[in-house]
Amino acid sequence: MNRPVMEGLRLNVPAYVKHARLVAWVAEVAALTEARDVYWCDGSKEEYDRLCAQLVAAGTFKKLNPELRPNSYLACSSPSDVARVEDRTFICSEKKEEAGPTNNWMAPAEMRELLQTGSAALFKGAMKGRTLYVVPFSMGPLGSPIAHIGVELSDSPYVVVNMKIMTRMGRAVLDVLGEDGVFVPCVHTVGAPLEPGQKDVAWPCNTTKYIVHYPETREIWSYGSGYGGNALLGKKCLALRIASTMGRDQGWLAEHMLLLGVTSPEGKKHHVAAAFPSACGKTNFAMLIPPAGFEGWKVTTIGDDIAWIKPGQDGRLYAINPEAGYFGVAPGTNTKTNSNCMDSLQRDVIFTNVALTDDGDVWWEGMTDTPPAHLIDWQGKDWTPKLAKETGAKASHPNARFTVSAINNPALDAEWDNPAGVPLDAIIFGGRRSTTVPLVTEARNWVEGVYMAATMGSETTAAAAGQQGVVRRDPFAMLPFMGYNMSDYFQHWLDLGKKLEAQGAKLPKIYCVNWFRKGDDGKFVWPGYGENMRVLKWMLERVEGRGQGVENIFGVSPRYQDLSWKGLDFSQAQFEQVTHIDKAAWRAELDLHAELFTQLAYHLPAELTAAKAKLEERLAA
Ligand code: GTP
Ligand code: SPV
Ligand code: MN
Repeated sequence: MNRPVMEGLRLNVPAYVKHARLVAWVAEVAALTEARDVYWCDGSKEEYDRLCAQLVAAGTFKKLNPELRPNSYLACSSPSDVARVEDRTFICSEKKEEAGPTNNWMAPAEMRELLQTGSAALFKGAMKGRTLYVVPFSMGPLGSPIAHIGVELSDSPYVVVNMKIMTRMGRAVLDVLGEDGVFVPCVHTVGAPLEPGQKDVAWPCNTTKYIVHYPETREIWSYGSGYGGNALLGKKCLALRIASTMGRDQGWLAEHMLLLGVTSPEGKKHHVAAAFPSACGKTNFAMLIPPAGFEGWKVTTIGDDIAWIKPGQDGRLYAINPEAGYFGVAPGTNTKTNSNCMDSLQRDVIFTNVALTDDGDVWWEGMTDTPPAHLIDWQGKDWTPKLAKETGAKASHPNARFTVSAINNPALDAEWDNPAGVPLDAIIFGGRRSTTVPLVTEARNWVEGVYMAATMGSETTAAAAGQQGVVRRDPFAMLPFMGYNMSDYFQHWLDLGKKLEAQGAKLPKIYCVNWFRKGDDGKFVWPGYGENMRVLKWMLERVEGRGQGVENIFGVSPRYQDLSWKGLDFSQAQFEQVTHIDKAAWRAELDLHAELFTQLAYHLPAELTAAKAKLEERLAA
């Protein structure tokens, strides 16, 4: 094989690398970015430990007290780099209509000039003074026919160690790729070149950020951020934005969904997928612990953020989790609301932007009722409960996260990495809505379910930069993650349902939920977390044709007596508060559906317009 040799740059290609096109591409990117040298990640534990030690030496990581939190680290980012940047995220398809009205778009040639080819292209020299890490990764079990391989070239060792936890990463991936296997090229730089002698900072990044996808050529280019979905390119960029376009072309679905198994006391198992927007409860629902009154029930986690869903031979929909770890929200997590999650975090964790305790452990808002008397906050400043009371200062950033391997989860489902996936019995959609949307509604059919998902609204959260708590439409919880035109995506869902129904297949039932309705006191009325099991059980009873409910203007919902209340003191009046359908609020809500449909008019499926008309009729009746 021809190994390109570059002046002043060592490509360091290991002997086991047999993929000439990969090597040529690495050489090309190394030359463009003027990386100091190249390191090929093998994915070993030794490599992980070495890079973590290097990050400690560089000041990016602080090693936590090994007695309290073995093999764990804390990273604190730059305050300008704390979340996904949706306004800097681009879908660069050849045609603007292909990206659709919900995505930022620029013509590929124009974007390439800006990033790669122009005289002031951002990637030119962007890795000066830094190592370019070659990170081969597989989304989905290694070598499985449903997996997709990516190779991320990044100048961030923080990204490398996170990718090691979040994906199947390393040499074994290159063995699967062989001499000419297909991979999604992903280029990432923090955009902070170092001049000779220049001292690095703990969290290098750039105020200019670009998170760019070329769906036609299936490429990802990310500039300027080292945080989460902006930088761990296997996650939202590949497994959702690029994968959604693959799914459209190949007849499957890439979704922002958790996956769980529910086993009844009789031993019957069901599988459920649920799409909630960012920071709206996926990780928590995926790790749910059944409450008092549900003895003998068991919920197991298959995935907490992303699902790839494909029709099987039998016409049923089968889902896999393409990830290997969790990049989850820390604030609000505690032993009462989610002890499975707390157990997962006992060791081998990378924490980002949480607070440091005086004894070298971590703390975040909501972890304990009484906060420690003193902390170092996520920005390195002293924090006390008194200061918090006076100034509202938060010890951890609201989008502070943990990175941990799925195998740390005590509730991990035995089938979590089965390449065949699990058959879906129900698909849930839900947003964060303090008003209007009832606790749970079952769609009467697939089209009504697609309508519910398409028109879903949710209050914005700290998972993305920008204003928080603003209700926006977030179709399928995919607004920030769609790789193509949203209306075409709705059509893809409708077509898939129609095709499977025509084959006589049993489609999953579709539900819409809202755990977040608030009372006049501004507090959540529904207790949520483990208590969501009560709603889940009702759904599965409906799937089995046993559960009772009543028809309303949207679909079918349970009456008070249709849910099990054993072990919980929740009155009929409280139930009324979380299920009440206010007609005036719904007329206003339908105006927002209309606004969305106007925005999405190009290629909007006629079935959805018809579903809306029927809904309006029922509301007027
Ligand atoms: P991403 O990782 O951003 O995609 O988020 P996610 O959907 O996995 O959300 P997660 O489960 O991490 O929850 C986000 C926040 O919502 C946390 O602060 C949780 O404590 C809170 N939360 C989760 N489930 C519930 C619930 O049922 N009720 C209430 N009130 N809060 C919840
Ligand atoms: C989300 O924002 O939905 C996340 C976190 O899961 S990130 O990986 O940053 O996208
Ligand atoms: Mn997410």
